[in-house]
Amino acid sequence: MPAERLSIDTLLTHTGGEPSDRHGAVNPPVYHASTILFPTVAAYERSRDPATRFDVVRYGQLGTPTTFALEQAIAAVEGGYRAMLLPSGLAAVTTAIDALTQHGDHVLMVDTAYASTRRFCDATLPKRGVRTTYYDPLVGADIRALFQPQTRVVFLESPGSETFEVQDVPAIAAAAHDAGIVVVMDNTWASPYFFPAIERGVDVSIQAATKYIGGHSDVMLGTITTTQPLYDRVRSAVAELGHCVGGDDAYLALRGLRTLGVRMDRHQRNAIVVAQWLCTRPEVARVHFPALESDPGHRLWARDFTGASGLFGVSLAPVPKPAMAAMLDGLELFGKGVSFGGFESLAIPLTPAKHRTATTWQSAGGGPYIRLHIGLEDPADLIADLERGFERLRAAAGAP
Ligand SMILES: Cc1ncc(COP(=O)(O)O)c(C=O)c1O
Repeated sequence: MPAERLSIDTLLTHTGGEPSDRHGAVNPPVYHASTILFPTVAAYERSRDPATRFDVVRYGQLGTPTTFALEQAIAAVEGGYRAMLLPSGLAAVTTAIDALTQHGDHVLMVDTAYASTRRFCDATLPKRGVRTTYYDPLVGADIRALFQPQTRVVFLESPGSETFEVQDVPAIAAAAHDAGIVVVMDNTWASPYFFPAIERGVDVSIQAATKYIGGHSDVMLGTITTTQPLYDRVRSAVAELGHCVGGDDAYLALRGLRTLGVRMDRHQRNAIVVAQWLCTRPEVARVHFPALESDPGHRLWARDFTGASGLFGVSLAPVPKPAMAAMLDGLELFGKGVSFGGFESLAIPLTPAKHRTATTWQSAGGGPYIRLHIGLEDPADLIADLERGFERLRAAAGAP
């Protein structure tokens, strides 16, 4: 199939193996496999040819037709050379960094990275002899000034999934490539549907497929998609570390991927409606969402992204913490739980300032900060739920 000439909506529908290779079944069967049997010694030895070691079914840990189908689909929608699966988004982040660094190397990590990504850099990389410097997400091409002779990786997460600063990905990627540094990006917020990371200059695009790709809050999975020169190195590390994904989880993620486009469009539409309404509320100091024209990241977002997901932050006007809790506790349509990307709405309090070292962060107006994930519900119902929440907040704060 001429994948490079098809739009992402078509790719979401038509990649992931050939039905003719599976008796015409539209979806791949779920293989539960560890041992793979070979009819002869010659066939067994052929399966171990290093040139094709990641392409053949020879041991469950190295892949089955179910996982290969998902990998093929992810690579196509990411616009990369090949993709690989990991048991979680965090495993995808840590394995990619691990694969691309060795003792003595240096990593530039965005200060707005997912907290567990930071924990890996702070707790595990030093044990490997790899140093990390955090950088301002808004640094742009000035990132050059932070390069050291040992810098091997610049890691981006844009927008940051807690505070939603938009990075100038093409400028950072160009500067890194001039210096021979690999660009790795956690592209989970936008998913490949709204941000073509590799086309924008990223070498290694990571998805916590647990979020939008899975889309139904029922699977843990990560993906790494690379350009051709980096594939063997990263894929070898995945195999050496023993990461693999079961057939049921790969199947769920492939099933989720089929509807990624329609879900992302709806998440975006609903999120914009709710975010715009929140901007009109006296209880809100600021909405952090690059899809809003008022957001400082809007210009870069509009230039580089093709849409926005359903995840954004809200700085509340100053109220005591119990008032914010009263608001969130009584919500009927927003669950309180980490993660995002499922069909359902979520609301949690966050304290992003705790996870910053290169920059400082304060919630606009100095009040509590909450993160909302806007699901696929009718936004009018979500707004009504939030409106009742603000009534509780005002009552608990003793406001009129
Ligand atoms: C931006 C981002 N990247 C990566 C991860 C890790 O994904 P997982 O939960 O699948 O390990 C998360 C999880 O919340 C995340 O928010």
